[in-house]
Amino acid sequence: MNLFPAPALGAAPAANLPAAAPFAVPDSPQPPFDPAVLARLATAFFAAPPFAPHGVQAPGNIAPPGSPLVSPAGFGPGLPGTPIPQGQLPGTNLIPAAPTNVLSLGNRAPALLPAAQAGNGAPDKAHGAIPAYEPRAGGAFLGVPQAIKAALAPRPGPFYFLDAVHGEPGIADAPARSPAPLSTPHYYFVAAPPASAAPELTERSPPFDVHAVRRDFPILQERVNGRQLVWFDNAATTHKPQAVVDRIAHFYAHENSNIHRAAHALAARATDAYEGARQRVRRFLNAPAVEEVIFVRGTTEAINLVAKSWGAQYVGQGDEIIVSHLEHHANIVPWQQLAAAKGATLRVIPVDDTGQVLLDEYRKLLNRRTRIVAVTHVSNALGTVTPIREIVELAHRAGARVLVDGAQSVSHMRIDVQALGADFFVFSGHKLFGPTGIGVLWGKREVLENMPPWQGGGNMIADVTFEKTRYQPIPNKFEAGTGNIADAVGLGAAIDYIGRIGIDNIARYEHDLLEYGMRQLGAIRQVRLIGTATGKASVISFVLAGHSTAQVGQALNDEGIAVRTGHHCAQPILRRFGVESTVRPSLAFYNTFDEIDQLAAVVKRLAQHERSFA
Ligand code: ALA
Repeated sequence: MNLFPAPALGAAPAANLPAAAPFAVPDSPQPPFDPAVLARLATAFFAAPPFAPHGVQAPGNIAPPGSPLVSPAGFGPGLPGTPIPQGQLPGTNLIPAAPTNVLSLGNRAPALLPAAQAGNGAPDKAHGAIPAYEPRAGGAFLGVPQAIKAALAPRPGPFYFLDAVHGEPGIADAPARSPAPLSTPHYYFVAAPPASAAPELTERSPPFDVHAVRRDFPILQERVNGRQLVWFDNAATTHKPQAVVDRIAHFYAHENSNIHRAAHALAARATDAYEGARQRVRRFLNAPAVEEVIFVRGTTEAINLVAKSWGAQYVGQGDEIIVSHLEHHANIVPWQQLAAAKGATLRVIPVDDTGQVLLDEYRKLLNRRTRIVAVTHVSNALGTVTPIREIVELAHRAGARVLVDGAQSVSHMRIDVQALGADFFVFSGHKLFGPTGIGVLWGKREVLENMPPWQGGGNMIADVTFEKTRYQPIPNKFEAGTGNIADAVGLGAAIDYIGRIGIDNIARYEHDLLEYGMRQLGAIRQVRLIGTATGKASVISFVLAGHSTAQVGQALNDEGIAVRTGHHCAQPILRRFGVESTVRPSLAFYNTFDEIDQLAAVVKRLAQHERSFA
């Protein structure tokens, strides 16, 4: 039986889709489902060895000895290999506790179907009884390139999306005029991965399949003003794959509890899930120790934590703090506040006309009064990738600490905090395909250990009397109160998802997309590109002669295309280029070349309109 009937080439894709039940599995139960059959299938399924990596967060026992992070169920680091709560294989404790839960998950599967079909005859999702939590046997439909090739190879019909260059217009299609700075680029994505990095796809790997990836993001099927949504506001926030949405739902359906404080099963599950997410962040950053990962609300809170805790301790009268001209307000204002409180001075690394920091000027700013250098890894307004290793090294030679704002880099390139060498690295979960309200401060252990807590309350204390409080070691020292447990777990799922796609695949694909977009927009005479540094990432910023940025944004929105217009919370760098506002399409790996064409077509139409009034 042909499980995946191929559409005839040239036929309208939707016409090839069955009206209902697009995905048929032979001998599988058909609705209405028999609970006994479902239970039997689930048992057989979870009895099989799990695929790696899991689509779920296996419980981990990574809490340091003596820490209240140790699971209240008694699973602690002193007991490696301790069975997970249900005594199942790793990851299988996510089987709902009661058979009725299997049913309830099965019942909600239809609601998880994306609003529109993929249009290529392949199913949008290979739903199981427990859709989001099964090991990724169905990885072909979840954007795992190897799995896509393997799963689809034996099929008889041709699939247009397996074409190596599908959706990627040839050079000949692009306008001839290319912005000069892009002609001799150095590429952040070809930097040699650190030795410790997990092996990823090689040159022989199947091509990145954007259409498979897109099916993981249900919101991309939304319609706006009668058009399918084009999301080019990824620097503001990214969309969430179904795996993240499902993981959060699963947390609330089966694990919800406060962590660390209760001797009951759900507290154990919630604690394991939360600490499992911390472990995932550690691996994602290649941090040496999980205790160095502090959960916060986001990048802004992380920077404020460092400014208010480390800054309070180590910055004094006459000291200097260095930021770059590229910074987001979140990496300016907390340092300004600190400088004002302490009588310190804020110094600014200037940029050149492409929007790249001037290292020679930076060298001149460094001196023995410099206490900290706080610099972005990727500019949110221009897309500049800063020479962060050199910046860190020079700061350290001057005896200063370094904070790297990774809000705009984490979703686009491999991060290795050990290779970067910085003292702090911060990012937000929602810019990494995870939930809002969760972010990370990573810091070197010795630096964090020598910082005072910045907030007091539950969870961060070892002992409290009215006379004196003793604090927990890191990370708890910096996590007062009940944290954003569910969203930390969701961030862990986002990291798993990125791992399945491969961050190096993402970087390569996005680089091509960005270059194409820069060429398309740069070819429009009335467009002024702002930020043309070589090797830049993911952000195109421009103004269009004769039109306000708001007008351009409105015209794009009329076509269902979402961009941010305005100052992007980075007024100083826009003013450096003589503007108060730009139009900012910002890319993610689920964007396509076709979407860039749609964007450019609207801008061209506006540009012609302007000419007719000229
Ligand atoms: N920092 C986010 C942006 O650049 C909000 O849009």
